[in-house]
Amino acid sequence: MKLCYLLGYPVEHSMSALMHNASFQSLNLPYRYELRSIPPADLVTFIEKELRLPEVKGANVTIPHKQEVIKTLDEIDETSSIIGAVNTIVNKGGNLTGYNTDITGAHQALQESFGRLNDIKVAILGAGGASKAVSYLFAKKASEVSIFNRTLKKAESLAVTLSRLPECKAEVQALPLKHEALKNAVKEADILVNTTSVGMFPKPNETLVSKKLLHSKLFVFDLVYNPPQTRLMREAAEMGARAIGGIPMLVYQGAKAFKLWTGRNPPEELMFRTLKENLGDGQ
Ligand code: ATR
Repeated sequence: MKLCYLLGYPVEHSMSALMHNASFQSLNLPYRYELRSIPPADLVTFIEKELRLPEVKGANVTIPHKQEVIKTLDEIDETSSIIGAVNTIVNKGGNLTGYNTDITGAHQALQESFGRLNDIKVAILGAGGASKAVSYLFAKKASEVSIFNRTLKKAESLAVTLSRLPECKAEVQALPLKHEALKNAVKEADILVNTTSVGMFPKPNETLVSKKLLHSKLFVFDLVYNPPQTRLMREAAEMGARAIGGIPMLVYQGAKAFKLWTGRNPPEELMFRTLKENLGDGQ
């Protein structure tokens, strides 16, 4: 049996094991996906002792390890290196390579539901690992990217990193997560993205953006997938805005990881179905 792990802290509420194990079974692959809750202090030891074993094909990486894990890897691909966040690891003969499948996952989800991302204005909530992937994607395509974060310094440092990239097309700015600043950016924005955990189970009634700031020309992309319809999404719909949640991105980033571990094409429809059966579809 070959193993793939999810490394996070905590990981108990993750849906990734259900999605990947259903996919392995449907293709008769001798793989199992297991959740591993690893405190930050134990991350390096776990990677050295467990992840390089021959039966381990790789791992997904989630909160809070996406950035810290990089120093334990032998190689990382170019985009992970640019943004400083890895969400997928592949073990080949004891050699560990890091990838970021969040970027393509977010891109695919947005292409399907929104369309081209060129020359648009985007407001992004959060400046952590998930935000790095999403902000990088928009920095390459959009005209304006405003990154809002509770800890302003983190948003500032991300905005500087992105602005310096040769491929950066957008004007990228960092702003405090305050009503006035949000009000102006959201008014002008084509897309509002929530990359924070605000609104996630077990506190589904929280939101960072008051309903009255939302409007019918806005498209809301909430990376939260549990619940499948967050308060932000519901209030967006009530204000006439279109909104999607985190399920499509979860599927597409997982599908890319699946392909990296197994070399096989992932059963994306089954992945969607498995998540919807367990979470509902938010309708
Ligand atoms: P991920 O990998 O999912 O992005 P992360 O790197 O831990 O996770 O980042 C979490 C993001 O959510 C951060 O931007 C965090 O803000 P801080 O940098 O100020 O910590 C944001 N976040 C989490 N809880 C929040 C809350 N209650 N209010 C506002 N922002 C919050």
